[in-house]
Amino acid sequence: MKKILFTIFMVVSSLSYAQQLKSPNGDFSMEFSLLKDGTPTYKLEYKKKTLIKESKLGFELKDDEKSLLKDFTVEDTEATSFDETWKPVWGEVAEIRNHYNELAVHLKQNETDRKMIVRFRLFDDGLGFRYEFPQQENLIYFVVKEERTQFAMTGDHTAFWIPGDYNTQEYDYVESKLSEIRGKMDKAITPNASQHPMGGTGVQTALMMKSTDGIYINLHEAALIDYPAMHLNLDDKNLIFESWLTPDARGDKGYLQAPFNTPWRTIIASDDARDILASKMTLNLNEPNKIEDTSWIKPVKYIGVWWEMITGKSTWFYTNDFPSVKLGETDFENATPNGTHAANTKHVKEYIDFAAKHGFDAVLVEGWNVGWEDWFGKSKDYVFDFVTPYPDFDVEEIHNYAKSKGIKMMMHHETSGSVRNYERHLEDAYQFMNDHGYTSVKSGYVGDIIPRGEFHYGQWMVNHYQYALEKAAEHKIMVNAHEAVRPTGIRRTYPNLIGNESARGTEYQAFGGNKANHVTVLPFTRLIGGPMDYTPGIFEMDVSKLNPDNNSHVNATIANQLALYVTMYSPLQMAADLPEHYNQFLDAFQFIKDVAVDWEDSKYLEAEPGDYVTVARKAKNTGNWFVGNANGLEKRTSKISLDFLDAGKKYEATIYADAKDAHYKTNPQAYIITKKTVTSKSKLKLTSAPGGGYAISIIEK
Ligand code: NOJ
Ligand code: CA
Repeated sequence: MKKILFTIFMVVSSLSYAQQLKSPNGDFSMEFSLLKDGTPTYKLEYKKKTLIKESKLGFELKDDEKSLLKDFTVEDTEATSFDETWKPVWGEVAEIRNHYNELAVHLKQNETDRKMIVRFRLFDDGLGFRYEFPQQENLIYFVVKEERTQFAMTGDHTAFWIPGDYNTQEYDYVESKLSEIRGKMDKAITPNASQHPMGGTGVQTALMMKSTDGIYINLHEAALIDYPAMHLNLDDKNLIFESWLTPDARGDKGYLQAPFNTPWRTIIASDDARDILASKMTLNLNEPNKIEDTSWIKPVKYIGVWWEMITGKSTWFYTNDFPSVKLGETDFENATPNGTHAANTKHVKEYIDFAAKHGFDAVLVEGWNVGWEDWFGKSKDYVFDFVTPYPDFDVEEIHNYAKSKGIKMMMHHETSGSVRNYERHLEDAYQFMNDHGYTSVKSGYVGDIIPRGEFHYGQWMVNHYQYALEKAAEHKIMVNAHEAVRPTGIRRTYPNLIGNESARGTEYQAFGGNKANHVTVLPFTRLIGGPMDYTPGIFEMDVSKLNPDNNSHVNATIANQLALYVTMYSPLQMAADLPEHYNQFLDAFQFIKDVAVDWEDSKYLEAEPGDYVTVARKAKNTGNWFVGNANGLEKRTSKISLDFLDAGKKYEATIYADAKDAHYKTNPQAYIITKKTVTSKSKLKLTSAPGGGYAISIIEK
């Protein structure tokens, strides 16, 4: 009966089977078909135009002549609809509608009698599909040599891409035609192109594209669990992307055991760029929340003993004796302090004072625990145990002090890539946090993964991040993992994943600088999978003022830095600069103090990848609104209407804008603050500098 809902036609020359599915609003329609040789394929239309041309589906298996690529017949199909509204624990909006039409195609490989289901979910904002391997006799354990999922493009789109890489996403984005990726790859990959593991046309997801007829297309994945992260490799003659999974240390891609479901492959598309930013498809394709009591999961605004080490003003390690001491046996009581160790009790208390004075929730302290000297000494053996503080960091005293001021301390676990070591210590490390009142941890995975040389985005590491996250939930700990695999919406299932880095963050502003329009690309790429701990809020752009040996320049204006608290959605927001710099600009700092970190509603006012992003968000509980505009490389006038405000109410708007002559490079600290009364009928016209922007707080009168 179900089948009658859909057009089935056994026909035309090249196909042996075809079935169609439409999105609830009818904008998208897809067709699943089997080629004559039994190869499964799909294609996708948006507003009656082809979006994805006929693209093949399947797997190449290791040590197996009969891969899961062809010779399939359709045994059965199921078509269903789903419509439900759910409430995230925290987020951009208070309620999310999960509405799709689904088609599950049950395939059987004729010769081997093996079964595979392809499940398609067509939403009003795009398509998600995954492979499912039901429990069966002829396919129990298997090793994936490669997933062969294609995404055939209709033309030479403009793409915002970073090079395929198994270990880092910390790149500036390149904007180019698809056909230009190969030519630009070497430069994109600096410093060492020969290390590129994927050949000349491999890129990472989330990949953002725009067609010549103005359609925005985003390719990514959702619910990456027990499987390697997917990259995309472009056949640049035919403009067909194909999945390219991250291998393990041996070169295998995935070890699977049926029953098993792969992550979802996602195609989000619209003729309006703002819809890409508003899409909730990635979240909707993840399982509902598995944490029963979520009362301990709370958005966090924090400062940290951090930027001073990143810029080289001070050090993570306590002593410079590290090359001379025996591995793991530094005698700290007798080692000579280097005088630049930032994580000392007195200095940490200054940060706590500043946090308390300005209403922050937490203070992060990096470099508090022994092991940094081993790491910087490159021993890579003993490294960290995550429970032993340096002699000048008094855990108890700091905690009592923080508690008395209403501040939470944020833990830091740099694993140094020694992941087995971390797993061995994890239970004790989390217990130490529980014992000392830490409620959140920033973890990090810098360097090659020890011991076997796994890659950061392979199945083994994906399983590690998940293990660390689930174990943290048992200890009621919130996690913000840096250098981990880019998120895929898992925060719906485990809302204690409050942040990730997994892209080029603000730290690179102190390592040479980021492109000034980087923050107008990230919302379309990295943020599709989940929030980023971007660590904005730098007010002193001349890094040499902190460290004369570092001549990096922060490529942003102060107004731009303020805007990021709204445009770069995250329940975890850092004010990353030093208290002394905020003290110089307390009027601008007021926005960081006022801005919310959890939202009732979000409106995407203006958006164009690489050029600008303007967002308005309504704070949970207070009903106050905050607006941010992050601008790209050209000076631009932004025109917005405040029609999202409640009709009939009066609000006071405080506008933090670039001054007329502001510029990210030459005049980044020039801003003007104005106040005016606004209503839902108000319209604003504001000019943003290159690398600039504006931020507005709108408080009901
Ligand atoms: C890299 C992280 O991104 C950065 O935030 C951290 O300070 C360093 N690793 C040290 O752990
Ligand atoms: Ca990093």
